[in-house]
Amino acid sequence: MTSAWRKAAAAKRKLRPVAGDTPGFARSCDNGGVTAVSTLPAPIGAPGDGTAGDAHAAPPAQGGSALRLDLPPLTLGNITVNTPVILAPMAGITNKAFRRLCREYGGGLYVSEMVTSRALVERSPESMRIISHDGDEKVRSVQLYGVDPRTVGAAVRLLIEEDRADHIDLNFGCPVPKVTRKGGGAALPWKLDLFTGIVQTAVREASRGNVPLTIKMRKGIDEDHLTFREAGKIARDSGVAAVALHGRTASQFYSGKADWNAIAELREALPDIPVLGNGDIWSAEDAVRMVRQTGVDGVVIGRGCQGRPWLFGDLMNAFEGSPTRYQPGLGQVAETVYRHAELLVETFGSEMMGLRDIRKHMAWYFKGYVVGGELRAKLATVPTLEVLRGLLDELDKDSPYPGQDAEGPRGRAGSPKKTALPEHWLDGRVLNEAQQADIAAAEVDVSGG
Ligand SMILES: Cc1cc2nc3c(=O)[nH]c(=O)nc-3n(C[C@H](O)[C@H](O)[C@H](O)COP(=O)(O)O)c2cc1C
Repeated sequence: MTSAWRKAAAAKRKLRPVAGDTPGFARSCDNGGVTAVSTLPAPIGAPGDGTAGDAHAAPPAQGGSALRLDLPPLTLGNITVNTPVILAPMAGITNKAFRRLCREYGGGLYVSEMVTSRALVERSPESMRIISHDGDEKVRSVQLYGVDPRTVGAAVRLLIEEDRADHIDLNFGCPVPKVTRKGGGAALPWKLDLFTGIVQTAVREASRGNVPLTIKMRKGIDEDHLTFREAGKIARDSGVAAVALHGRTASQFYSGKADWNAIAELREALPDIPVLGNGDIWSAEDAVRMVRQTGVDGVVIGRGCQGRPWLFGDLMNAFEGSPTRYQPGLGQVAETVYRHAELLVETFGSEMMGLRDIRKHMAWYFKGYVVGGELRAKLATVPTLEVLRGLLDELDKDSPYPGQDAEGPRGRAGSPKKTALPEHWLDGRVLNEAQQADIAAAEVDVSGG
């Protein structure tokens, strides 16, 4: 990131209120303290490029008012994200097919599933699939996972030299034992020398192609071993274009509540780069609330959009001051499921693999809708597009949006667990000799979160 860009970004941020600028406003306004601009019911219909006609927008509940969030577009180096909303990288979810569905509703940034640096450097077929993008994906965003600066550097170089990405994110948030046991993911920022080495190398390689590099991290390993404060500063000083914080520790996994105070603290500690907030955004209203409470420059949405790609439409509407929200009836959800399955078949180049993949989305898509147990079970094991069509035809297509039952938390939850770590990992903040030797061999092929 150039210092000119830093100055421009800092100047832009000064133009908008940050959390606490308007004391009392958030309290007096349930939706998070955004500015009222209209109370007219929004038109019914799909925004964007007109291809998202499978879920209808419905006017807000009576008495709803249109409110504008005073947030400028998000600037990541040479990329401008008009609606400062980011689809969180999710292994097994945010492939080309799902990104397309989400993109059709809103104007955000859509990040790939994470790809392991070593697998990418070795050009495994799976890693090449993960980094592939549709021709019309204007910002080709890729998330890399790695533990060895040289391998991460080589992976970034490959992406740059072969012009395969417009934005690169580094994963420092994965809590999966297979990863943290090797010192990767959320365990890595504890070792300041290793973290600095990876981020500096990646930024240097990415800057050769003028590609902005961001990092995504958790608060730390556990409450006694927090890392986000130092890691944020190191990343900023290394020239990252933005830092995203998931407000949980690794040992929390997905349990409890995301700590938005930590996000607000990081936002304040890094006034000169964009800070993005992540964790527990289930609705457009939650996103607005996070921006108001923390002052972040953008929000990162993971589980909230599982089975609800139209959440990106809601987010765009909310950020633009429109009260319109997508409230699809069962028929529209069924059409989206079928389309998602077709896109997965195309993405994987195999009907069997596409259908195997769509099964995990069924419970999310139909959360809260009236669908019998037997039909749900059949949908969860659907073998072909033809069978899928038949099963979806059995649904009561006129069944309306169920309201609250379709909203709120979804996806992974789990319970807290002690984080698996390499031996003596917590003894010091720099790698010892044995750990240094282990690191190069620690690149594992994993999919995580
Ligand atoms: C199924 C799944 C896969 C995930 N994979 C990744 C990943 O590959 N890279 C990453 O940085 N985070 C990953 N995450 C974490 C999310 O990006 C996000 O940080 C987390 O879900 C919290 O946000 P949320 O409350 O909006 O879901 C994953 C999460 C889930 C649920």
